[in-house]
Order: sequence, then C-alpha cells, then structure tokens
Amino acid sequence: MPPLRIAVLASGGGSNLQALIDRFNAAAAEPVARVELVVGGRPGIGALERAAAAGIGSHALQPREATDAGAWLDLLTQHRIDLVVLAGYLRLVPSAVVETFRGRIINVHPALLPAFGGMGMYGMHVHRAVLAAGARVSGATVHLVDERYDTGRILAQWPVPVLPDDTAERLAARVLAVEHRLLPLVVEALARGEVVGPPATDPVGFDLESRAAPAEGHVRSLLVLGERG
Ligand code: GRF
Repeated sequence: MPPLRIAVLASGGGSNLQALIDRFNAAAAEPVARVELVVGGRPGIGALERAAAAGIGSHALQPREATDAGAWLDLLTQHRIDLVVLAGYLRLVPSAVVETFRGRIINVHPALLPAFGGMGMYGMHVHRAVLAAGARVSGATVHLVDERYDTGRILAQWPVPVLPDDTAERLAARVLAVEHRLLPLVVEALARGEVVGPPATDPVGFDLESRAAPAEGHVRSLLVLGERG
C-alpha cells in the first residue's frame, strides 16, 4: 500500500505537525503515511518553517482563501491528499471541503471533548476553563471534523490528570505532550484501516473491542488510555 498522503493545517507553532513529521516523514522504512502538504492559516507561522525545514511543500492561506472551498479543494486535489489533519488550525473548514473529505478530516483538541470545546475554546482559553471548572481530569481528543467546532465524532482520547497546583501553562504543556503521542497514533491507525468512521446513528462512545480492520463502511472508535504496550 502506498503511504496515506496527509495535509496538515496549522495556525501556530506546529509542534503537532512536527510530531507527525518525526513519526512518518523521518521514518526509515516503509512509512504508512507521509505529510505531503502543510497549509498555514496565515503567513509567517512556525508550522510553515517546520515544513520548509523538512522539505515539505506548503501554502499560506491568504485571508480570502480561508473561506474559499474551491481554493482548498484545488490544493488538496493537486497534492492528492487522502487525509486532512487540523493541528492547531483555528478557523472552520469550508463546508464544501468537509463534505468532500467527510470522514477524512481529523482535529486534535487539548481537552476531553465534548467538555471544553466549541467556538472560542482554543489554546489557553481551554486550559483556563478546565481549571476554573475544578475538573480533576483533562486530556487530549482526536475527532472527525464536521461543519461545527469540535462536535465531530470522537476517535480517541488520552486523559491527563489536573494537579492541585496546576497553572494553565503547566497543564497545557502536559496535555500538549500527550497530543504529540496521540495524534500520530490515530493517524497510523487510520492508515492501517484500524479506525474508520462510526455509524452516524451511534452515540458518541468508545468501542474497546477488536482493533482489527473492520468491515468496509463500518466504523469503530479507538480509545487510547495512557500507555500502550
Ligand atoms: C494544540 O494544543 C492543539 O490541540 C490545538 O492547538 C494547539 C496547537 O499546537 N488545536 P501546535 O501548533 O501543534 O504546537
């Protein structure tokens, strides 16, 4: 099987992008996936520098392109992208792009969705809200992207304890470290056919059964709880 061709969209420093590059593009033999395109939510961001350093093609969205589904689809088609990964991309994906790539766009979010998600819940806003709510557990979520913020089906979560003396910055750093492990795991599982889209009527939940490739068209969720193996 040729490697799954990934586009990563980012609006910031791109540390999750780097985790994907390290896992797949720098891998020695027969990677199951490769980052083939990096799309920056704006010019001049760290994610675009990381793409250049890794020799990966990139494109900085001009303001008018962010909502231009045609421009997105041209770009994704030109690069023959199989999977779109939002890693710190802060805007909504144009709905025609969601429609075309439904089930093939994922996002990483720095909390345990469905809690602490939605419009405005990004970056430090998330971690401050977690602390303000007195939550004892936070974590990272990877989910399918739909037309709204953070509401698509959850594919995987990794809990992180909230410590009594946590600040938003400390909690953010611990969650980010987990994101760097969870996101490549999910991409790898998708590339191996181990996670596929769940039946739309199924409530959000987790299926801890077999991780074997499911029957075509059937979707299983993957729950990753802490250390594996
Ligand atoms: C991560 O916390 C991710 O969950 C959120 O934005 C942040 C991106 O960080 N969506 P980075 O740009 O990958 O370092």
